[in-house]
Amino acid sequence: MIPSLTALALRLLVTVALGQTFQFQEHVFLQFLGLDKVPSPQKFRPVPSILKKIFWDREAAATSGDSQDLCYIKDLGTRGNILRLLLDQGLFLYSEKLAQASCLQKQLYFNLSAIQDKEQLTMAQLGLDLGPNTHYKQGPELELALSLVQEPHVWGQSTPKPGKILVLQSVPWPQGVVHFNLLDVAKDWNNNPRKNLGLLLEILVKGTRDWGVNFQLQDTCARLRQSLHASLLVVSLNPEQCHPSSRRRREAVLAPKASCRNLCHHHQLFINFQDLGWHKWIIAPKGFMANYCHGDCPFSMTTSLNSSNYAFMQALMHTVDPEIPQAVCIPTKLSPISMLYQDNDDNVILRHYEDMVVDECGCA
Ligand SMILES: *[C@@H]1O[C@H](CO)[C@@H](O)[C@H](O)[C@H]1NC(C)=O
Ligand SMILES: *[C@@H]1O[C@H](CO)[C@@H](O)[C@H](O)[C@H]1NC(C)=O
Repeated sequence: MIPSLTALALRLLVTVALGQTFQFQEHVFLQFLGLDKVPSPQKFRPVPSILKKIFWDREAAATSGDSQDLCYIKDLGTRGNILRLLLDQGLFLYSEKLAQASCLQKQLYFNLSAIQDKEQLTMAQLGLDLGPNTHYKQGPELELALSLVQEPHVWGQSTPKPGKILVLQSVPWPQGVVHFNLLDVAKDWNNNPRKNLGLLLEILVKGTRDWGVNFQLQDTCARLRQSLHASLLVVSLNPEQCHPSSRRRREAVLAPKASCRNLCHHHQLFINFQDLGWHKWIIAPKGFMANYCHGDCPFSMTTSLNSSNYAFMQALMHTVDPEIPQAVCIPTKLSPISMLYQDNDDNVILRHYEDMVVDECGCA
C-alpha cells in the first residue's frame, strides 16, 4: 500500500513541479509526510546538533553514492526512520513548602500526539540541559529527582502528586546536558495518552550546610532556573516506510539511457521547496532531484531484454489486441532522501523517506 502511496506522492510532486494545480496534491503529500496541515512555524528553532550531524552525514553518503540503511540510525545505535525533538511544555512550580536545599521544582510535559499509530517507538531520551559546563567555577553537586506524575494536577494545589521515581542521581555542576532513557515511559504514554500527566523534576543542592552561604545557594538556583531546558528525543520506526534493502523492483525492463527521445527514460527534475512555499517549514534540504519517468514502451524495446518479463507479455498482447494497453514507463530504481523540518508544535523532526528519487526507469 505504501510503496504506491510513495509513487503517488512522487507523481504528485512531479505534476506540481510541472506547473499543474496542486491544492489536492499538497494535501496528499502532507499526509504522506505524516502531517495534517502545512506547518507554519513562527520562526526556525536552532536544529539540535545530533539531528544536524545525522542529516549531513546522510547527505554526504547520498552524494558519494554510498548505499545506506535509512532505517537504522548509526549515531544512536537504534532502528528508526523518524527522529523528533519534542520540547518540554511544563511549568516551573513554586511552593513555600520547598525544602531549604531544594533548588527548583518543575513539571515536564511532552506532547506525543504527533506520533502515529503505525510507528514503533525505538528510543526516547530525555535531555536536561543544566547550563554550559565550561563555567570556570566549580559549583556544588546537584541531586536530580525525576518522578512520574500519576494524578491529574488539581488547581489550587501547589505541586502535582509525584508517583513512581524514575531517576535519583547526583551530578556535578556545572554539567551541560544529562540524558535519561525514558523509552518504557514514552511507550506507555503513547499507548495510553491519558496516562501522560508529565514528569516532576526536582533539583536539590547537595551539601548545602558545608557549602554554607545561603546567598550562593540562591545564586546557583537562579542560574539553574535560567539555563534549564528539557527536551525529549523520540525515535520511531514506521515499518511501512522501511522495507528490506533487497527491495529493488526488478520486474520491469530497464530503459535505455535517454538515447531515443521518445523512448521511456528518466528525465531530470529538481523540486525546489521554495517554489511550493515549503521553505517556510522545511529546514533542509532546499529541494531535491526527484526526476521522473516518461516515454514510450514499444514492443521492440521489451524484446531487447529477458522475454520472461511481464512487460514483454503485455507488449506482445498489445500487438495482438490494441485494446490491451502498452507497457508503461515507471521507476525501476529509486533512492531515498532525508528531510529536516519543523512542525506546528515547534518540534524539529528529521525524517527519512524511501523511494523519493528516481534513478532508473523501465517498462512494466
Ligand atoms: C498535543 O498536541 C495536539 C496537536 O498539536 C493538540 O491538539 C493537543 O491539544 C495537545 N495536548 C496537550 C495536552 O497539550
Ligand atoms: C535475464 O535473466 C537471467 C536469468 O534470470 C538473469 O541472470 C539476467 O541478468 C537477466 N538479464 C537482464 C538484462 O535482465
